[in-house]
Formats: sequence, C-alpha cells, structure tokens
Amino acid sequence: MPRLDDYRLRLGRHELVPIVTGGMGVDISSADLAIEAARLGGVGHISDAMVKTVTDRRFKTKYVKAKQAMYKHNVDSDDKSSVKFNLEHLVEATRMHVETTLSRKTGSGLVFINCMEKLTMNAPKETLKVRMSAALDAGIDGITLAAGLHLGSFALIEDHPRFRDAKLGIIVSSLRALQLFLKKNSRLNRLPDYVVVEGPLAGGHLGFGMDWAQYDLATIVAEILQYLKAERLDIPVIPAGGIFTGSDAVRFMQMGAAGVQVATRFTITRECGLPDEVKQEYFKANEDDIEVNQISPTGYPMRMIKGSPGIGDGIRPNCEAYGYLLDANGKCAYITAYNREVAAHPGERRISVMDKTCLCTHMRNFEIWTCGQLAWRLKDTSIRHADGSYQLLSAEHVFQDYQFSTDEQIRLPEPEGANA
Ligand SMILES: Cc1cc2nc3c(=O)[nH]c(=O)nc-3n(C[C@H](O)[C@H](O)[C@H](O)COP(=O)(O)O)c2cc1C
Repeated sequence: MPRLDDYRLRLGRHELVPIVTGGMGVDISSADLAIEAARLGGVGHISDAMVKTVTDRRFKTKYVKAKQAMYKHNVDSDDKSSVKFNLEHLVEATRMHVETTLSRKTGSGLVFINCMEKLTMNAPKETLKVRMSAALDAGIDGITLAAGLHLGSFALIEDHPRFRDAKLGIIVSSLRALQLFLKKNSRLNRLPDYVVVEGPLAGGHLGFGMDWAQYDLATIVAEILQYLKAERLDIPVIPAGGIFTGSDAVRFMQMGAAGVQVATRFTITRECGLPDEVKQEYFKANEDDIEVNQISPTGYPMRMIKGSPGIGDGIRPNCEAYGYLLDANGKCAYITAYNREVAAHPGERRISVMDKTCLCTHMRNFEIWTCGQLAWRLKDTSIRHADGSYQLLSAEHVFQDYQFSTDEQIRLPEPEGANA
C-alpha cells in the first residue's frame, strides 16, 4: 500500500517528510503548530499577518496601542492616507515573532513564514520589503509569497545577504500566474525554490473568481508539471487545497508532486491558534454551512463558515490600530461600504454591512471562520463526547495520519483519559 512516507520532499540539501502545514493568518498557524511540523521532519509555516497584534498578545508588546494613539485624531476621518506603519516597530515585531519561534525549533524540518502581498499596509513595497528582510535577518528557513502575483517581491530583497541561501517560494493557482512570475523575475537569475499550487478547495483567499468550482487542482498541477518538464525547470511543485487524507496526498506524489501543503485538518489541533470554542465550530460545520463569498476587502473570494460572526457586522473601521488592508492611497473596500451604510442610515447606532467585512478586526478577533471546502469532514477525524463537543487532536496525530495512513483511512485518536 503506498503511503506518503514512501516519498521525500527535497529542497536543496534538505530531505523532508513531504508535508507542509500552510500559513494561516492571523496566528492560526501558530508557532506551536509550525515547530511541531518541523520536529516531525516536515515544513511548518508561521504567518506574518498582523504581526504586531500577534506579538502584543504573545509577548505583551504595545505596538497596536502605540499606532492607535498616534493616529487617534484620525478615527472619525474617511481619509486614512496618513495612517502609516512605523517600520521600525514592524521590524522588531517580525524579528520577535520569528526568533522566538526558531529558538524553540527541534528536529530536522524547516520553519517558513507566509507573507501575503495583499497586506498592503498603506505602503505596499516598503512594508513588504521590511517584513521579508526582517524575517530573513531573524533566520527564517524560508518565505512563501502568498495572496498576490508578487511580480516584484523577489527584487525587493535581492540585495539581502540571504537572498540566495533562504528558501523562497510562491503560491500560484494557475500555470499563467507561474509563467508571469518567472518572466518578471528572469533578470534576477533566481528561480523559486518551490511552487505551491493552490486549487479551488483551499481555505483563506482563493486565486480564482466566483467560478472556482469549474477548476480542479489535479488538472492545474498536471499542466504545471508538464510545463516545467518541457522548459527543463527543476522547481518542486507542492499542491494544496482539499488534500484531506494521506491517500489524497499519495495521488499527487504519484503524479510527480514534491510534497503537499495542508491546513484545514490542522485547524482543530491543540496547537492551532484558534480559540477552542471556534475549533468546535469547525468540527460542527456541515457541507452546506461552508460558502465562498466576496466580503473580503482584498477583492479575492474567500471561503468561510456561514455562521462567522464577522459576516454582516458593521463595526467602525479600525485602520488607525490595524490598517493592514489599506492600499497605497489609504483606501479599503470596507471603508467605502461602511461609509455608504452610515450615510444611508442616519442616526442609527448599529448598522450592518453585508457586502464587505472589516477583515483586520474580524480576523484578529477570530470572527471570520475561514476554512477549506472539506472542513465538513473534520467531524470524521475525531471522537464526539457525550455533551456533543469533539476531542481536539494533537498536531502530531494529524501529521502522522497524513504520513502513514493508507486506503483513504483516517486514524481516530485514543479517547482522552483512556490511559489514565
Ligand atoms: C484557517 C485558514 C487560514 C488560512 N490563511 C491563509 C493565509 O493567511 N495565507 C495563505 O497564503 N493561505 C492561507 N490559507 C490557505 C492554506 O495555507 C492552505 O494552502 C490551504 O488551506 C490548503 O488547503 P486545505 O485547507 O484544504 O488543506 C488558510 C487556510 C485556512 C484553513
């Protein structure tokens, strides 16, 4: 019986278990989760989404408060163009996040960081350059460039001493996006060290339109593998999105994939950064509770559980404190939608905004429950208690289930307290 452990992911001189835990912002793919994946010989991602919020929470820094205090005068203004990030604080926070994660790393695996281009932060280039450089300075093993085409991102760090030594990868959802990236970066004479091919069933933002259901991960992966072979480009391909069992993963390895990236199955692990009550919502979700909608101000469709409290909420934009999605001119689609609703309902204290969400606030508060299309199967991966709640799993259990299972099987955990 073939199993995922029969294969290895080769990245330069590293030979890894071919399991990559995907980046999940804001701190859902926590340091705890990433270092477990690395300890077990795979690749674990942390994310730099809202990194100042993450360090404030974890290390009692006060970055968010400082930014909010600085721009307090602007809270009632529609014009957010003056709300800038303090780049030194951004460097400090990124370093702290990466260094503390790496200081706890054991085992032969690697820890990468997920950097989303759509976190434009009112100064897209400057902030992305600082984020990537600080992560490299702090010793991160690799950077995965996500949520965007990243046509100029490699160039932002081409002078960094670790530009050629750190692993740099990109996430694409089509052959065309990969071709565009390779063309725009040919001058740098530096290929990506891996390409994550994310299909339409993934969690988070999708690299597809609302016609996502017409696409199929295996077809896109086959096209990309064929293209790379024809061009004699030796870039490991890592499919992602809807790979739910070890057998699903093996099918991609048999096609010629180098490894797989998985996320949803880890959302209900103890190490995952979601609050425990939200993990129970993931367990409980049925197939028709999961939708792809367009409420993310990034402009990309996003998949989430319909009951997410952030859907329809009309909170005042929190850009002075957060502001991660402000474009280069201080604009965000949520601010526009919010102002429209305020104007349409004069005097009302609580308004609802249905078409967009304040993603920074709600991701920070774990109120947008993004998930992969197969999250409804999570209930089949654990044990249900008499009170209706589900037993959380360890990241090790899920990782090893992917690594060793055969025949479409999913191994259930030992009941808690069984050996007590
Ligand atoms: C809760 C959650 C949050 C996610 N956040 C991000 C993110 O911040 N950046 C990103 O590039 N991908 C994000 N993703 C996508 C995953 O990294 C991964 O590629 C994808 O979900 C894999 O498909 P699967 O969940 O079906 O295994 C997220 C996925 C989930 C489930």
